[in-house]
Amino acid sequence: MIQHMIGFLGAGNMAEALIRGLIETNKCGGSSLLASDINEIRLAHMSKTYGISTQPGNLALTEAAEVLLLAVKPQQVAEVLGEIRSGLDPQRHTLISIAAGIPTAFIEQQAQCPLKVVRVMPNTPARLKAGAAAFCLGQYAGEAEILLTHLLFETVGIVVQVKESLLNAVTALSGSGPAYIFKLCEMMTAAGLKMGLPADVADDLARQTILGAARMLTETGKSAEELRQAVTSPGGTTQAALEYLGNSDFEQVFQAALLAARDRAQSLMPIVKKGNGK
Ligand SMILES: NC(=O)c1ccc[n+]([C@@H]2O[C@H](COP(=O)([O-])OP(=O)(O)OC[C@H]3O[C@@H](n4cnc5c(N)ncnc54)[C@H](OP(=O)(O)O)[C@@H]3O)[C@@H](O)[C@H]2O)c1
Repeated sequence: MIQHMIGFLGAGNMAEALIRGLIETNKCGGSSLLASDINEIRLAHMSKTYGISTQPGNLALTEAAEVLLLAVKPQQVAEVLGEIRSGLDPQRHTLISIAAGIPTAFIEQQAQCPLKVVRVMPNTPARLKAGAAAFCLGQYAGEAEILLTHLLFETVGIVVQVKESLLNAVTALSGSGPAYIFKLCEMMTAAGLKMGLPADVADDLARQTILGAARMLTETGKSAEELRQAVTSPGGTTQAALEYLGNSDFEQVFQAALLAARDRAQSLMPIVKKGNGK
């Protein structure tokens, strides 16, 4: 059980995924979870569904919690940090941000105190406890915050630590990654249609194939390469398709697409004023 009071600044989709994960895995009871949000309907939903306490404002929540889970949209981060600044106590608080693209140095600068900050990049399958999250530490965070981040985010999937300079690559790979698989599903379905399969049949087969392949990747302990080779008989149908892909620039295009995502993440980051020591 996590002993701290955890306060969610923003009670949207990702906050809900985490709250559900924490409660369903018995890591926290509803009484040690708090949420604040500008949307009262959202707060009523969270309170009714998960039995958590809600707070009228972000500052009140900050004063009541020890771990602050910053879960508003990136463009709302500066405003929320401004609201809670006077209530922040670096001895008492740890702030874990899931806001995409907001550097730890920006948060530390806005906090105006040596706050322990963790920056996490989760992804949407966290809603099904199949998430992939990566995190990095701010300059004042240490071992206790690593442990805490693992405890919190392992309730909704896997968690890895990376250097902050690699978080935009994580955003490109696992943050945006589910969309690539959805696109693959659309393309497989479209190809099935082109070959004459009924739309619903092509859609069912594509979805289930992706699910089956994903389970083989996570449940057999074999590498993607081993699994691919095992289903590719010499001179067979799979080999014909893979050879066609191999003879195209598919792999370079795919790599370039991920680099474009990483570069976009980089360009969206707020500029951190110099002199923060990072
Ligand atoms: N969803 C994902 O898969 C995913 C993946 C990786 C990272 N993230 C990050 O997670 C964060 C949250 O994403 P989300 O999808 O959960 O967003 P969301 O569903 O829009 O949740 C954000 C919540 O914060 C509320 N809010 C807005 N301004 C606020 C304020 N000043 N104080 C308190 N609450 C406020 C919003 O209310 P209104 O709706 O009324 O504005 C909304 O209920 C984002 O920074 C995003 O980058 C999300």
